[in-house]
Amino acid sequence: MKKQKLNPQPSIRWNITYTMGINYSEPLSYFRKSSSVGRIDKIPEEAPSVEHRPITQEDDNGKYCCVKYLSQGSFGSVVLATVYGDNQHYALKVITTNKFNTIEVNILKDMKEIPGVLQYIEVFETENNVVIVTEFCKGQELFDYIYNKGPLSEKTAKYIFRQLCIAMHIAHNKGIVHRDLKPENIIINNQHIVTIIDWGFAFYPSKTIERKRCGSPNYAAPEILGNAKYGSEIDVWSLGCILYTMLTGRLPFDNNNISELFNDIKACSVDYNVNLNEGAIDLLRAIFTIQNRITITGILNDRWLDWH
Ligand SMILES: Nc1ncnc2c1ncn2[C@@H]1O[C@H](COP(=O)(O)OP(=O)(O)O)[C@@H](O)[C@H]1O
Ligand SMILES: [Mg+2]
Repeated sequence: MKKQKLNPQPSIRWNITYTMGINYSEPLSYFRKSSSVGRIDKIPEEAPSVEHRPITQEDDNGKYCCVKYLSQGSFGSVVLATVYGDNQHYALKVITTNKFNTIEVNILKDMKEIPGVLQYIEVFETENNVVIVTEFCKGQELFDYIYNKGPLSEKTAKYIFRQLCIAMHIAHNKGIVHRDLKPENIIINNQHIVTIIDWGFAFYPSKTIERKRCGSPNYAAPEILGNAKYGSEIDVWSLGCILYTMLTGRLPFDNNNISELFNDIKACSVDYNVNLNEGAIDLLRAIFTIQNRITITGILNDRWLDWH
């Protein structure tokens, strides 16, 4: 199987993306460069543009002061901010009002105090935007960490993976599915403590019949590609993609041709001919399957993961 260097992956709603005419034969890193300045080491030092400065200064409380951009996406932008008279940092997700979906806030509120999950502070509206205030996670995206370091040691990968599984186990027990788990949506600090961010595609499978095709194609489970009534098992698949990427420095499913990529995913066609411990391969095989996929509880009881 042809393997490529690790590239950042855009999060999308696929039907919208197609109508926007994004061409998947482009190298995927192209999207990242054009749509985001999210690399934490590359944030411009100057304050945000004039266009954004009033958004937070004229809010109801008038308390947030923008420091710099963390990211600019199609929905709006993420800004690092402080509170006047305080040196505490916050992340402000500034979303154009017509692209805002209350579910992201409801879900963040529902997950307060879960270790490893982005902590919600408050939400407020301005003239054209909705601003979600959360903790600011110091560190870098897990994507950049893997990209710069190459494959992680088994010990580090297990340590990170276990934290992700514990956090997602609690989220799933609350009936919440993230739907866009990938290294770009995980912040890792210098002690390898992780925080799962970007709950913009999250949903409650038991409360809605909605089953969008969304997330990031390379991390998407086969059920999302069909018309199946999927649930939390799709996050398990994405966690498997993250584990594989941490251990090998490569995506398990990687093809610039979108229909070939989808065929590989549906066929669970993963290259296991990599230099990995047998226990890790057994766990990945238990994840990358359509029938009887292992659950998060099963993963947390897995011998390889438990074995230091
Ligand atoms: N709370 C936060 N702390 C630190 N960085 C953040 C935070 N929220 C977002 N970011 C940065 O901004 C990027 C985009 O934010 P995200 O919520 O993932 O929105 P998008 O929908 O554009 O992917 C993230 O990948 C991360 O680099
Ligand atoms: Mg994101």
